[in-house]
Amino acid sequence: MSPPADFLIFGGDIAQLGKIEELELGAELLKEVKARQVFIPGEHDWYLDMGKKWGQLFGEPHWTFDHKGVRFIGLDTVSRAPDYWTVKNMSPEERMGHMATLDGSVAGPWAGVGRDQLDWLSKTLSTWDKSRPVVIFSHNPLYEYYPPWNFWVRDWREVNDVLKPYANVTNIHGHVHQVLYNEIGTMRSIGMLATSWPWPYAPEGVPKLTKPMIRVDPGDIYDGVGWGNLSMRGDRIENEYIMWGRKEVFVQSGPDSSLSQPEILRSRIADKLYPY
Ligand SMILES: [Fe+2]
Repeated sequence: MSPPADFLIFGGDIAQLGKIEELELGAELLKEVKARQVFIPGEHDWYLDMGKKWGQLFGEPHWTFDHKGVRFIGLDTVSRAPDYWTVKNMSPEERMGHMATLDGSVAGPWAGVGRDQLDWLSKTLSTWDKSRPVVIFSHNPLYEYYPPWNFWVRDWREVNDVLKPYANVTNIHGHVHQVLYNEIGTMRSIGMLATSWPWPYAPEGVPKLTKPMIRVDPGDIYDGVGWGNLSMRGDRIENEYIMWGRKEVFVQSGPDSSLSQPEILRSRIADKLYPY
């Protein structure tokens, strides 16, 4: 890269089924990148051995550091799944299999930040000027995009309460594998492309303010995959998607249909099961 990146963030799911050889292969491939590297876990990394190997390779699942006037925070949104496996006597492979299913119902709303990490987040931000930029990396989106696929964290409202006083917050998330943009108050969320496996958009449409991405060529395995380049212009964090196999011609989609539909907010079973 020219200029070279200040650091590389890997946003989770370096493995598919959490196997030692998968995690080690990922770490080995990334050794070629000479920039500083930081990591947060994805569910595919975690639920075979509950993060043991991931921790050995990549360290603590949440962290913070300051760089060029920005406070960077890595959140762990995957390790706090409620234990559904012990009572069912599941093997680690069975547990991992349920976590690796996009629309599975067994694992339930597993994505969460947790009270302890919320307190840590609050403490970490308390020493930061409220007008200065904050970038939060999370595997899952910090808002409710599509809960049936765990495209959310179940305690996102509490996360938002902690972040509310800060005027310049950018959440960069993975997990959804697709171009997404959403704003809640002063927090904006940017969904990153994946290096493999383009997902379709969720069946209920994309959130307001999101521009749907049209896949130009579904037959091209690189269409819809890539990575992103974050840079700072003044106090604003900007993100440029760099798609692999990028075509010359782009199609712009029309506005999302949700713009013309009234939003109905209601509490759901998931909220009642896991109060935070
Ligand atoms: Fe994921």
